[in-house]
Amino acid sequence: MKKLFPQYVYNPITLTGAAVASLSFGLIVFLFVLDFFSTQENTYMGILTYIIIPSFLIIGLLLIAYGIFREKRREVRGIVRGSYLPVIDLNDPKKRAMFVTFSLGTILLLLFSAFGSFKAYEYTETDEFCGTVCHKVMEPEYTAYLDSPHSRVGCVGCHIGSGTNWYVKSKISGAYQVYSVLFNKYSRPIPTPVEALRPAEGTCEQCHTPALFYNEKKIDYTYYLSDEQNTKSNISMLLKIGGGKSELGSIEGIHWHVNPDNVISYIYSDKRRLVIPWIKVTSKDGKETIFKDKTANFDKKNFSSENIRTMDCIDCHNRPSHIYHQPDKMINEMLATNKIDETLPFIKSISVEALEDNYTTKEQALENIKQKINDFYLANYPDVYKTKKNEIKSSIEIIKNIYSRNYFPYMNANWKHFPDNIAHTYTPGCFRCHDGNHVSDDGKVISNDCNSCHKIISQTDNAGVTRVDLNGLKFQHPVELGESIENHLCTDCHWKNE
Ligand code: HEC
Ligand code: HEC
Ligand code: HEC
Ligand code: HEC
Ligand code: HEC
Ligand code: HEC
Repeated sequence: MKKLFPQYVYNPITLTGAAVASLSFGLIVFLFVLDFFSTQENTYMGILTYIIIPSFLIIGLLLIAYGIFREKRREVRGIVRGSYLPVIDLNDPKKRAMFVTFSLGTILLLLFSAFGSFKAYEYTETDEFCGTVCHKVMEPEYTAYLDSPHSRVGCVGCHIGSGTNWYVKSKISGAYQVYSVLFNKYSRPIPTPVEALRPAEGTCEQCHTPALFYNEKKIDYTYYLSDEQNTKSNISMLLKIGGGKSELGSIEGIHWHVNPDNVISYIYSDKRRLVIPWIKVTSKDGKETIFKDKTANFDKKNFSSENIRTMDCIDCHNRPSHIYHQPDKMINEMLATNKIDETLPFIKSISVEALEDNYTTKEQALENIKQKINDFYLANYPDVYKTKKNEIKSSIEIIKNIYSRNYFPYMNANWKHFPDNIAHTYTPGCFRCHDGNHVSDDGKVISNDCNSCHKIISQTDNAGVTRVDLNGLKFQHPVELGESIENHLCTDCHWKNE
């Protein structure tokens, strides 16, 4: 028989390599075609097709090369092979048993290693792995996540999404993260925003449709001041959350920004994207409007393209899952729902203070909170301390829980380091652009009108007097500030930028 290839190719190692390689190649082609024609994107298939089987292909190819190399050396040394295939005499029971064992073993081993790497892959995708393996590092994110509206959406749903491309990217950055944890090189807090986060199109928008926002959402808040009586007031407002398809009603509203007809891009000048000097709106007909912050000395030339971002869900909903609550809001909520007794003098201010003190460990914080509040009543209101012992005790427990849920001193994680962009009172949020200072060349201003995003339909002031107007009321600030509120952003007084 005439041989197709040179003699040295016909050695057992090269032939085994060729078998492994062609088998893998066949499988890859088969799976690739399957993946191509299947309508659903499937990460698992991708992993098999593009990672696991190709590694066998590479092993096969290496074997081929090694076999040839070895054979050539033998040739040089004058060792000549008679027959080019190993002879296995299947009539010999011993050899037969060995052959069957070896073949079955190889097949099983291949199957198991494929299955094993598949399982290992699956495990790296679980919330347990993402949230707890690097326990202390991810504790803030994981704790907040478990308490969020998305606690049943896996980490992967928002951080990776489907498709092999993003899987591989995430594992590469994941490998770096493992390294930084092992060698204690991670920063505290973990930097935010996540620079390489996948655009919302591949994550949020797999469950939420950007064009389907309509109507208004009613929200109610109860506020308490820092005075002895914890003076209470109330607000009800309708948030204009529309902005989607015209057939669902008005296309005006907050979700106008993500209506597929508009593209908004912006330049940020700080790492946290809190300072935004330049914004471009491109409408469906291609018309571009550029807004610039008139108070900033902005020159586009000084910015690289890395600082330009196209707005999506995450520019407002940056905390859909890892929410670190602002202490005033949290204590208001607990007072309003009677979990903390609102008749305890100064309880609002003392609780917020206790939460906001600087602590180095959680244990120290919890101990101090208890001590501080007890001491306060013992020293200033001994009668209250006696008659309301139980109320004080249960309030302390609630405040400690708020601390454990929202402050993580080890990782420096709290509401100030992870500002929520969804509002404008305690963090810059909407007013990064809607501060009344962003103007286009033809004089258009990004609206700062208090009625453009919501309308206040009722407000109860500190004296208990309620005003109602379904067309929208002027906001009455809970404490009289004189004219100064007109010329300030809420954050000038309510945010502590750290
Ligand atoms: C509902 C979507 C969603 C889910 C589910 C989710 N995340 Fe996030 N995660 C985000 C967004 C959005 C950000 C911040 C993005 C930004 O501002 O760039 C973020 C940020 C982070 C950060 C960076 C620090 C920070 O808080 O900004 C870490 C770490 C993180 N997530 C880990 C996890 C882990 C671990 C899980 C699962 C236990 C998880 N995430 C689940 C949406 C999600
Ligand atoms: C796997 C599906 C899924 C993904 C991915 C997802 N969400 Fe959600 N989201 C939901 C569901 C379901 C709810 C309703 C939860 C509820 O009311 O308990 C929800 C609720 C919300 C809410 C309302 C929360 C509230 O307080 O009422 C917001 C805002 C939101 N999602 C934004 C996002 C953003 C931003 C992302 C991407 C970072 C995202 N979602 C990713 C399924 C998802
Ligand atoms: C990156 C800048 C930016 C941020 C951040 C931002 N907006 Fe806007 N917003 C714009 C621009 C630009 C317009 C269009 C202004 C115009 O054309 O007059 C706009 C328009 C609007 C409109 C009017 C939409 C319509 O129907 O015409 C509403 C409502 C609105 N924004 C609400 C919000 C809210 C609420 C937030 C915070 C959660 C927010 N915006 C954050 C840039 C921003
Ligand atoms: C301009 C800022 C902005 C952008 C961009 C934005 N949202 Fe919102 N969204 C808001 C605000 C503000 C609310 C109301 C906040 C609240 O409920 O307290 C809201 C509410 C929601 C709700 C709850 C609606 C309800 O009926 O309760 C969901 C879900 C949601 N957004 C998802 C998304 C998704 C998905 C995207 C991206 C396609 C997105 N949002 C983009 C500002 C924004
Ligand atoms: C660009 C849109 C936008 C503009 C302009 C705007 N707001 Fe808001 N406002 C919001 C959003 C979004 C929230 C968050 C609602 C929530 O907590 O779910 C909010 C919340 C509030 C709240 C409740 C505060 C809290 O966090 O308890 C008050 C009060 C308020 N706004 C007053 C005002 C006043 C006064 C003005 C005018 C100076 C104004 N807003 C302008 C979007 C806007
Ligand atoms: C000039 C400083 C200043 C500005 C600007 C300002 N506030 Fe206040 N605000 C205060 C002070 C001081 C208090 C009283 C705090 C206390 O008693 O605990 C207060 C109290 C509040 C409270 C009740 C306390 C709480 O947090 O529950 C709310 C709500 C509030 N402000 C919302 C706003 C909003 C919304 C804006 C922007 C439209 C704003 N403030 C602008 C200084 C300011």
